[in-house]
Amino acid sequence: AIDSNFEVNRERVGEEDGVAVWGPVEPPEKQGIRGTHVAVDFDICLADGACLEDCPVDVFEWTDTPGHPESERKANPADEDQCIDCMLCVDVCPVDAIDVDPG
Ligand code: SF4
Ligand code: F3S
Repeated sequence: AIDSNFEVNRERVGEEDGVAVWGPVEPPEKQGIRGTHVAVDFDICLADGACLEDCPVDVFEWTDTPGHPESERKANPADEDQCIDCMLCVDVCPVDAIDVDPG
């Protein structure tokens, strides 16, 4: 599962399309955690897609990660600012790749 303390335990190494990137990032195998309020561990995500289908405000969009061992696309929390903290994505992700930090 994603480390919900990633903001303490990991280093913010940059930003991609307005979404924070938390290392380590060593493509293609290591893609890090993306997002802050809504965070997705790209190294755990296996492209199930339930988060994209179920989020009522369409926070997620696919982003390609060619060569990653789990899946070659990931759920990027591109519109995390729109999140209404319903926690649906956290509940439906089969591999607990998502952390939402309400408040
Ligand atoms: Fe979307 Fe709800 Fe997840 Fe926020 S908590 S990203 S609104 S599904
Ligand atoms: Fe990935 Fe979980 Fe969404 S596996 S696509 S973060 S439901």
